[in-house]
Amino acid sequence: MTKDTVTITDNRTNQTYTFPVVKGTIRAMDLRQIKTSPDDFGLMTYDPAFMNTASCQSSISFIDGELGILRYRGYPIETLAEHCTFLEVAYLLLFGELPTGAELKNWVHEITHHTMLHETTKQFMESFRYDAHPMGMLVSTVAALSTVYPEARDIDDPKNRLLQMKRLIGKMPSIAAMSYRHSLGFPYVYPDNDLSYTENFMNMLWKMVEPKYVADPVLARALDILFILHADHEQNCSANTMRSVGSAHTDPYLTTAASAAALAGPLHGGANEEVLKMLDAIGSKANVPAYLKKIKEGHGKLMGFGHRVYKNYDPRAKIIKWAAEQVFNVTGRNAKLDIALELERIALEDDYFVKRKLYPNVDFYSGIIYQAMGFKPEMFTVLFAIPRTAGWLAQWQEMLADSEQKIARPRQIYVGQNVREFLPIAQRASLVATEH
Ligand code: ACO
Repeated sequence: MTKDTVTITDNRTNQTYTFPVVKGTIRAMDLRQIKTSPDDFGLMTYDPAFMNTASCQSSISFIDGELGILRYRGYPIETLAEHCTFLEVAYLLLFGELPTGAELKNWVHEITHHTMLHETTKQFMESFRYDAHPMGMLVSTVAALSTVYPEARDIDDPKNRLLQMKRLIGKMPSIAAMSYRHSLGFPYVYPDNDLSYTENFMNMLWKMVEPKYVADPVLARALDILFILHADHEQNCSANTMRSVGSAHTDPYLTTAASAAALAGPLHGGANEEVLKMLDAIGSKANVPAYLKKIKEGHGKLMGFGHRVYKNYDPRAKIIKWAAEQVFNVTGRNAKLDIALELERIALEDDYFVKRKLYPNVDFYSGIIYQAMGFKPEMFTVLFAIPRTAGWLAQWQEMLADSEQKIARPRQIYVGQNVREFLPIAQRASLVATEH
C-alpha cells in the first residue's frame, strides 16, 4: 500500500476502504464508495461553515494562520505593502505575476480610463434616500452596472471578461465616492486622469471648489497600503460568495454585488464600522476592563478581534498599526487609538482571549485610521470593498478556468418531517408558536 493513502474501516459493515491523500486532503466524493448496501447513497461529510473543507485549489493567496503569514502569489504581504502600489498588486492578483514597467503603465492607463460612470448610473445613485447607507448604495449600484453593460454576460470570452474586470476596478472608487458625497448632499466630482488610483479617489471624495485637487502624499500612500492589505484573503466569506454565485455563470457585476453584500455583514467587512461604535461605547481607557468583563460574560463580541484562520496575529493588523502612525503625523492622533491600544494590551494578557487565540484582526485598527482621515464609520466597509474587488475578480477568473469546478451546490442532512397527510384548511389547528 502506498504511503500517501488513508484507510477507513466502516464498523457498520467491517469493510475497509483506502483513499489517496493529495496535499493533505482526501476527496469527499471518494467517501461515496462507503455504503451499507448497494442502495445506500454513500457516506457524506457534515461541515457547517466549511470549517474543514477545501472548496477549490487556488494559487492566489496563501495564509498560515498559526504563523501569521499572508502572501499574494508567493510574495509576503509586508514586501508588497512596502514596495508596490495597489494597482501593481491588483495586476499581480489577476495575472499571477508582477508587471514590468511597461505593463504597469499600460494597466494604470486602462484602469484610469474606466473610472467614469454612465450618467444614468449617476442618476440612479441620486435617487437613494439622503441618509442611505453607503454600503447599500454600493451593492445596488454595482448590481445596476449589469444593466449598463449587458455584454458582460458573455463570460466565456476572455477579452470581454478582462474589459469588465477593468471597468469594475476602475469604477469602484467612483461609486464609493459618489455614495459618500450623496450622504453629504455634495455634487459628484468627476475623475481626474492625472492622478493615481488613490489620489483620484481622494479627489472624488473631497474636492470642493479648488480647480485642482492635491492629495496629501502621506495620506494617499497610507490609503494605497490599506488597499493592498485588503485586496485578497483566500476563501473568506465574500470570496466564497464570488465563486459560488459566479459558478452559476452570473455576470461579473451581479456576482461582485453579491460578494459586496457578504462583505457588508458585521462578522466580515462590516466589523471595522462596529469597532468604531464599540470604541465610542467604551468612551475612555478607564472603562476598558469593565467592557472586557462584559464580553467574557457572554455579552457580545470584541469587534475586530478573532479570525477563522489567524490564530497567532493577523499580519495585516501589524502593518496597519505602522500606517496609523504615519497618518496621525498628518492628521493628529485619533483619541480612540488609546482605547484600542488599551483593549489590545489587556485582552492579550487575559486568559479568555489567550486560550481562544483571539488577536486583533485587520479591522481593529483600520477604522481608526479611516476616521482620522475624515471618513465616517458608514464608509469603512465601502473602503474595504474597493480593493477587495481585485481579489474577488481573481478568484472568479480562477474558478471559471478550473475544469473541476461546476455550479456550487452543497448537500444537506434533511432533518425535517417525513411525508405527512395534507389537511384541508378548515381542519387545521394552529401549531406555530410565533405570532404573525
Ligand atoms: N470576542 C469575544 N469572543 C470571541 C470573539 C470575539 N471577537 N471571537 C470569537 N470569540 C470566542 C467565541 O465565542 C468562541 O468561544 P467558545 O469557544 O467559548 O464558544 C471562540 O472564541 C471561538 O470563536 P468562533 O466564533 O467559533 O470562531 P469563528 O472562527 O467561527 O469566528 C469570527 C471568527 C467571525 C471572525 C469571530 O472571531 C468574530 O465574530 N469576531 C468579531 C467580528 C470581526 O472582527 N470580524 C472581522 C473578521 S476579519 C474580516 O472578515 C475581514
